[in-house]
Amino acid sequence: MMAEPEPLLERARAARERAYAPYSRFRVGAALEAEDGSVHVGCNVENAAHPLAVCAERNAVGAALAAGRRRFRTLTLCASGPDPVPPCGGCRQVLAEFAPDLRVISEGDGGSRAEWSLADLLPEPFVSQRLPKGRR
Ligand code: THU
Repeated sequence: MMAEPEPLLERARAARERAYAPYSRFRVGAALEAEDGSVHVGCNVENAAHPLAVCAERNAVGAALAAGRRRFRTLTLCASGPDPVPPCGGCRQVLAEFAPDLRVISEGDGGSRAEWSLADLLPEPFVSQRLPKGRR
């Protein structure tokens, strides 16, 4: 039985309000639920030097790690626009470092939702076991 995602979606919506996206105007909020039930949020943060933009998902991972959490159950996303968006390829890889089987739930502006498993979104992540021994 899957947990009700509404409270976690609400945290992502609130985080989206704090997005700093003056260049793309595409605002994204993310909420990451750790295995102990704690929730860590992120929003996208853009920069006048455009390639330095950081996605909401990666900022949520950073907040969670800084709070001492490294194991996650569910990620919720809320983005500008009518359609639910999946995490970008780079964020899939970063999320897979900590939670290869993460449940990902995304919501568009009008409330339409999509759900994926990170394992389906990124079937062959580059994981630490691929590194030569001694570099893990
Ligand atoms: N963005 C995210 O925050 N998450 C995604 O999954 C896709 C893209 C941000 C990055 C940039 O600030 C803006 O959306 C447009 O790409």
